[in-house]
Amino acid sequence: MTTPTPQERVFSGVQPSGDLHLGNYLGAIVQFVELQRHYQCIYCIVDLHAITVWQEPERLRENIRATAAAYIAAGIDPKEQVIFAQSSVTAHAELAWMFNCVARIGWLNRMTQFKEKVGKNRENASVGLYVYPVLMAADILAYHATHVPVGEDQKQHLELARDIAAKFNNDFAGGEVFFPQPEPLITAEACRVMSLRDGKSKMSKSDASEMSRILLTDDAESIVRKIQKAKTDAHPLPGEVAGLEGRPEAENLVGIFAALEGVKREEVLRRYGGGNFAGFKKDLAEVAVARLVPMGEEMRRLCGDADYLDGVLQDGASRAESLARPILNRARELVGLP
Ligand code: AMP
Ligand code: TRP
Repeated sequence: MTTPTPQERVFSGVQPSGDLHLGNYLGAIVQFVELQRHYQCIYCIVDLHAITVWQEPERLRENIRATAAAYIAAGIDPKEQVIFAQSSVTAHAELAWMFNCVARIGWLNRMTQFKEKVGKNRENASVGLYVYPVLMAADILAYHATHVPVGEDQKQHLELARDIAAKFNNDFAGGEVFFPQPEPLITAEACRVMSLRDGKSKMSKSDASEMSRILLTDDAESIVRKIQKAKTDAHPLPGEVAGLEGRPEAENLVGIFAALEGVKREEVLRRYGGGNFAGFKKDLAEVAVARLVPMGEEMRRLCGDADYLDGVLQDGASRAESLARPILNRARELVGLP
């Protein structure tokens, strides 16, 4: 990685909408941890995004703290980086409104995540869910963030944020680059962790089957059981990555193994190619337990200390506020708001 310039800044967010799973961890949080070595990082708990679908209020309060606990247990330093809840800094909602007036309906109609989430039930989805990517653009641009680590599913939303930045600059800043173009950072090895029950669908908080996902708070026994029961196919593991084609379950497990060990999939297949799934799964379970169980224990310990977590969130909110305020004020001025 080249040395970042002082203007470079990382922003990302996770929704406090349920239990965090291996997809969130490998697709996003692992990168968050790595990036703090090189960048100033702002890690948000996007509660306003979470309420685009109904959340039980007491559970939401708990989940906000649990997400902060996950960030910290994974290794993000809350003193060096900024960890806070989105709704505590009003700039997000204010800028999102201005961006609602910049983004075009045609742009939002192309968002595949919205289409996938609502299916045939579009008329009954919240308006918030529809404009969700606009709020996400506001999150990023309110800090002039330049780098955004996310899973692959968020790439299209990042492109929308870039379009909004460009149109705002064009419409209000005379073409000056007031909002920089944010870049997605997506790691190849685990950009998309799939369900353990179906290699074609994403590992997700909302999947009906608990066996489809490994939670960050799962104990060793559950992790081992879920990996042992994970769906596979009848063939031995291939010796090369090309041999994973058309074998989504095998591809997923190999990808998870590689991401957990921080090696390439080629390396995993060099070791296990030609072998059956039983031995591979045994080793995978061992690697997963060693990596996840200590983190889960730390998360549980932190969740028992609400005062500490609330302190971290308050401190983060006031630092985030002072970064976003001047940018919001300038945006207001450019638009002509008093
Ligand atoms: P969410 O919890 O939906 O707010 O997602 C938080 C982060 O985790 C985002 O960067 C997502 O792209 C990432 N993520 C969620 N599910 C997966 C998955 N199954 N595989 C990879 N990344 C994921
Ligand atoms: N939409 C993201 C997700 O579901 C979460 C998110 C909200 C986000 N605002 C963001 C991610 C800003 C990166 C930057 O995963």
